[in-house]
Amino acid sequence: MMTTLVTGGAGFIGSHLCAVLLEQGEAVVCLDNFNDYYDPAIKRANVARLASLDSPGGQFTLVEGDIRDVETVNAVFETHDVKRVVNLAAMANVRYSIERAPLYVAVNLNGAVNLMEAARRHSVEIFVQASTSSVYGTTAPVPFREDDAADRPLAAYPASKRAAEMMAHSYYHLFGLNVTCLRFFNVYGPAGRPDMMPFRVLDAIVKGKPITLFNGGTMRRDWTYIDDTVAGVAAALARPMGYEVINLGCGAPMPMTEFMEVCQELTGKPATIIDTPAPPSDPPITYCDNTRARERLGFAPKVNTRQGLANTWAWYQETFLRG
Ligand SMILES: NC(=O)c1ccc[n+]([C@@H]2O[C@H](COP(=O)([O-])OP(=O)(O)OC[C@H]3O[C@@H](n4cnc5c(N)ncnc54)[C@H](O)[C@@H]3O)[C@@H](O)[C@H]2O)c1
Repeated sequence: MMTTLVTGGAGFIGSHLCAVLLEQGEAVVCLDNFNDYYDPAIKRANVARLASLDSPGGQFTLVEGDIRDVETVNAVFETHDVKRVVNLAAMANVRYSIERAPLYVAVNLNGAVNLMEAARRHSVEIFVQASTSSVYGTTAPVPFREDDAADRPLAAYPASKRAAEMMAHSYYHLFGLNVTCLRFFNVYGPAGRPDMMPFRVLDAIVKGKPITLFNGGTMRRDWTYIDDTVAGVAAALARPMGYEVINLGCGAPMPMTEFMEVCQELTGKPATIIDTPAPPSDPPITYCDNTRARERLGFAPKVNTRQGLANTWAWYQETFLRG
């Protein structure tokens, strides 16, 4: 059976993607090292949900391992008939990367190259590489367009992701590996990452804890709902296009002040805000021009930030405030 390898499949975006592929009756191999950047119990729970999905034809295999380890990567390709790859395994978070450049290069660049190397040797049909809006830094005009040079990253995280995009081009050019690099914009939703603002803000408000906001809440983020992101990834998997770089974002940035208002409305409680200057790693805005995604992937984001936050709050209540 044709198999899709989803690295980082135990994580936030990966587990939602695996669920959709399994529901489509596909064979999915998830490769994840369950690192403790955030509580690995969350990743175990994600995988447990996937393993219990009852989908006709869908077949889920978990491989616990590290994309930095060439032998592990090669063994996956030798054991399974991998025809499609989605590389979501990464160290994420711009600020966390500030003091950890070697780790980010090892995972996000070298790990990605290990996968590309195996992919081209095993005649993979399509390789989808997770990239990020943060490659645009502060020099790009808004909204961000893919033809911007994106060559002034503000920290190791976007630098390592941009470098992986460029390595991908060389694999396409030399070996004909189809690679679509998707630049995700601020993905959030139910079972979202606990280190990102949607979860942190809701959680802080519920627990009456203070939450840190940068630059008086003037920063704007282009929040993209998980289901919309996953639909874009699935579309990219279905359409090998040579080498492509595609923004995958909602296209409607929201100031953090408004984001906070929505969260306070939803929870019915006030937030305690600590205002500090933004660190130099964080751009003032992310704003997606998603024309290319619309044209080439049929991307049409359906969930606006208010609705997406309401869905996230519903999940939070169901998960943490039941009974
Ligand atoms: N969530 C966002 O807003 C966002 C935005 C832009 C880009 N991205 C990118 O999308 C991808 C998925 O992000 P996410 O939000 O689901 O993050 P996540 O941290 O929930 O998922 C990443 C997964 O990769 C695994 N992983 C990390 N290093 C690994 C390694 N060396 N070997 C094997 N597995 C490893 C982790 O254990 C985790 O389960 C990442 O590449 C991230 O950089 C995410």
